[in-house]
Amino acid sequence: MSIEQQHALPSYLRPDHLGPWGIYLQQVDRVAPYLAPRLQRWIETLKRPKRALIVDVPIHLDNGTVKHFEGYRVQHNTSRGPGKGGLRFHQDVTLSEVMALAAWMSIKNAAVNVPYGGAKGGVRVDPRQLSLSELERMTRRYTSEINVIIGPNSDIPAPDVNTNEQVMAWMMDTYSMNLGHSSTGVVTGKPVSLGGSLGRREATGRGVYVIACEAARQINVEVEGARIAVQGFGNVGSTAARLFVEGGAKLVTVQDHTGTVMNLGGLDVTALSKHVLDTGGVSGFAGGEKIPDADFWSIETEFLIPAALEGQLTELNAPKIRTQIVVEGANGPTTPEADDILRENGILVIPDVVANAGGVTVSYFEWVQDFSSFFWSEDEINLRLDRVMREAFAGVWQVSQEKRVSVRTAAFIVACTRILTARDMRGLYP
Ligand SMILES: NC(=O)c1ccc[n+]([C@@H]2O[C@H](COP(=O)([O-])OP(=O)(O)OC[C@H]3O[C@@H](n4cnc5c(N)ncnc54)[C@H](O)[C@@H]3O)[C@@H](O)[C@H]2O)c1
Repeated sequence: MSIEQQHALPSYLRPDHLGPWGIYLQQVDRVAPYLAPRLQRWIETLKRPKRALIVDVPIHLDNGTVKHFEGYRVQHNTSRGPGKGGLRFHQDVTLSEVMALAAWMSIKNAAVNVPYGGAKGGVRVDPRQLSLSELERMTRRYTSEINVIIGPNSDIPAPDVNTNEQVMAWMMDTYSMNLGHSSTGVVTGKPVSLGGSLGRREATGRGVYVIACEAARQINVEVEGARIAVQGFGNVGSTAARLFVEGGAKLVTVQDHTGTVMNLGGLDVTALSKHVLDTGGVSGFAGGEKIPDADFWSIETEFLIPAALEGQLTELNAPKIRTQIVVEGANGPTTPEADDILRENGILVIPDVVANAGGVTVSYFEWVQDFSSFFWSEDEINLRLDRVMREAFAGVWQVSQEKRVSVRTAAFIVACTRILTARDMRGLYP
């Protein structure tokens, strides 16, 4: 049966082009049979976002003309707490994508047991085409437009693809100006000088590394001496790569939007990071050879870390992948078809909703610190982060072993049970 026949799809998505939301729905279908009968009646809750706001974002360009951008903020589920999730600036952002990313945030926050629901935002823009002042005006106008649904107790944005500490500072300032006083807790991933948390910038990549080590231990793969492939060398990919190399692994190939570089002897992470900072991408890096993008997937490694965009591991490239563990730094990088192929080929996939939850975990610490205006040391943050990640992984791994399901389905079982138990206990209003 096709996905359109199985689900009551919203009229605002095209059934013949469901995009990432279609992938998310298939993941929910896989978990449904494992949920307690008492929770089955609430499953439809997971298949529709609670609230989706579409906004027009007009700005003055530096040349005096006015340009309009399309923006979204979606709150998927808030049964367990306020909405929480990043903000993405990308020319290909769609409502379907933001809906799926918001839903994955609901699952992730429940999987690692932080007291949040799931939300996500996006603006259809290539930020590289804007000047810094245009970017600031766009961020501020977008924040004003979604002002009605965000807030420290209702929905808390954070950085995602192409957004960073500076964007969060502008958002915090805009929200605070409308409010009449500073409200640091409205966003996380802020600069440390503005109520941000130590360790937040590196938290997602650090979490990826911690989880990768835990997974490796379960199937007797050594991190020391292991070969690593990383797709996406931004915040998540570059931090994870650096920690792997510090742990004794060898970074053999990196791909980003500018191309793919390889060095079987090991790429120098520090030099590559500097090259990316200077030039905007990995292409042209002198410490490795340029290879065709398609070849990236078939390079033999022990760990493959997708840390760019969703839908990267598909039925087309999955059969070529020669690795032992895929650790999803990106959100939604693996399609359900690729998931099945990797499983058949004995490749362990550690899903995004656990592997990249380090960012939201430290965002949670930041939010707690902002509320209490009492800030913790970086050691304390990293210690707590490592503990949350290890405990979450252990719980999910146990379910995957007991029920003989993939780690992704196990994570969905743990998370959906938490979300729907909250729904069940709260009951329906009115
Ligand atoms: N930043 C966080 O805290 C965080 C938390 C959880 C999950 N994530 C997820 O991690 C992923 C990366 O986020 P980030 O914050 O590192 O973003 P970023 O903007 O810092 O980096 C994105 C990277 O992806 C690369 N990329 C873009 N398009 C590509 C393509 N077509 N092929 C190959 N590479 C491409 C870019 O070149 C860049 O290196 C996203 O899926 C995001 O949702 C981020």
